[in-house]
Amino acid sequence: MKKIGVALLGLGNIGSGVMKVLQENGELIKCREGMEIEVKRILVRNLKKKRSVEVDPALLTDDFNQIINDGSIDIIAEFMGGEMPAFTYISEALKRGKSVITANKEVIAKHWDELEEEAKRSGAGLYFEASVAGGIPIIKPLRRSLQANRILTLMGIINGTTNFILTRMSEEGRTFEDVLSEAQRRGYAEPDPTADIEGYDARYKLSILSTLCFRNRVRVDNIYCEGIRGVAADDIKYAKELGFGIKLLAIAKKLNGKIEARVHPTFIPLSHPLYAVRDSYNAIFIKGDMVGDIMFYGRGAGDLPTASAIVSDIVTAGQNNGAHHSFRLEVEKPEIEDNWIDEYYMRLVVLDKPGVLAEIAGIFGRHNVSLDTVMQKQRDHDHATIIFITHEAREKWIHEALEEIKRSPAVISVESLIRVER
Ligand SMILES: NC(=O)c1ccc[n+]([C@@H]2O[C@H](COP(=O)([O-])OP(=O)(O)OC[C@H]3O[C@@H](n4cnc5c(N)ncnc54)[C@H](OP(=O)(O)O)[C@@H]3O)[C@@H](O)[C@H]2O)c1
Repeated sequence: MKKIGVALLGLGNIGSGVMKVLQENGELIKCREGMEIEVKRILVRNLKKKRSVEVDPALLTDDFNQIINDGSIDIIAEFMGGEMPAFTYISEALKRGKSVITANKEVIAKHWDELEEEAKRSGAGLYFEASVAGGIPIIKPLRRSLQANRILTLMGIINGTTNFILTRMSEEGRTFEDVLSEAQRRGYAEPDPTADIEGYDARYKLSILSTLCFRNRVRVDNIYCEGIRGVAADDIKYAKELGFGIKLLAIAKKLNGKIEARVHPTFIPLSHPLYAVRDSYNAIFIKGDMVGDIMFYGRGAGDLPTASAIVSDIVTAGQNNGAHHSFRLEVEKPEIEDNWIDEYYMRLVVLDKPGVLAEIAGIFGRHNVSLDTVMQKQRDHDHATIIFITHEAREKWIHEALEEIKRSPAVISVESLIRVER
């Protein structure tokens, strides 16, 4: 029976989940894999805190040196969160030849290069299945199962909090603020929800996924990012009338050698498989040139689903005896496309008088934007709401057209601009 000595960095939600999985299914893993996973040390901040899981208090330490200098520890599994000191500890562990498992999307998205170099130098393994989409196996399939493909497109719902909010807004006709405060009360959203709501969390995850898909380093600042704060109940209502739903999508495509990567609220047809992904569930849809369409679906967060991915990485690292599998890039610096082609939904409030619609349509036309759908709704006696969905157009043409439209005296406001993926 192989014995693997593991140290855990963190005993919060995820660390406790890892302990529970090992306590409940440790024997099963032993029997299936011929491997005994032994937790040797657990790093925490507060040694006196009450824990939600039973642990031998002698395992707890608040001193990382006791872990890094312990020769019986082969693997270090990090779920402390935050960039620092997590990055320093991971880096130090790799330097000393200890394999690392991490759930930390921020550290991987920002420092993958450096950590990969460190791992290559020492030969230790670096695994991060839990850093994207919690319990859904997505990193391993991209690394180990789809090598025979060029990945053409990836589209995913990879943030559970925003999907929960958009689902409730859509199903219950409620406003963003209303649902957000309920989500915070119930613990589905953080007290400071900025990282989720503004799309930053999804952007870190998309940086990791698109780098894996295209074997090009897609950095966080290569990714356009827009959150869901601006999605109004009216947009959700009109989307439904037009046969669409709104989701915060992470999208990455490679076209003509250029990569586009973006996170933003998106209209998708009600018949699209991603529309059926409700509440805090995650899903990732991938198109490969050989395999065609694949979809991954499941719990994108939570203690046990995330711990399931972490323990799987621990087993893999144990089986590999700490060996590092290099991640080879095709190109170090990819060409990034920021003027992508899409269809666009726009909602404007205008003066309700003859000729306004023709004037706006004329401006779109002058900027190469042709219209697929136009819908007018009376707002009050003097004003009307006009909704447009365009045919495919370049992002820059849309912004140029809207700049000109905003200058028209007949236009009161441009209320929304949301991209449409069919
Ligand atoms: N929550 C999820 O569903 C989920 C899903 C996927 C990935 N992740 C990732 O998993 C990581 C952890 O998330 P979590 O929800 O478990 O966080 P959490 O509940 O806040 O737990 C963090 C743990 O790390 C310890 N810690 C933090 N900073 C430390 C420091 N400087 N020195 C020593 N110990 C320190 C804390 O110690 P004390 O307990 O003593 O304070 C705590 O036990 C994050 O990177 C997160 O992005 C989370």
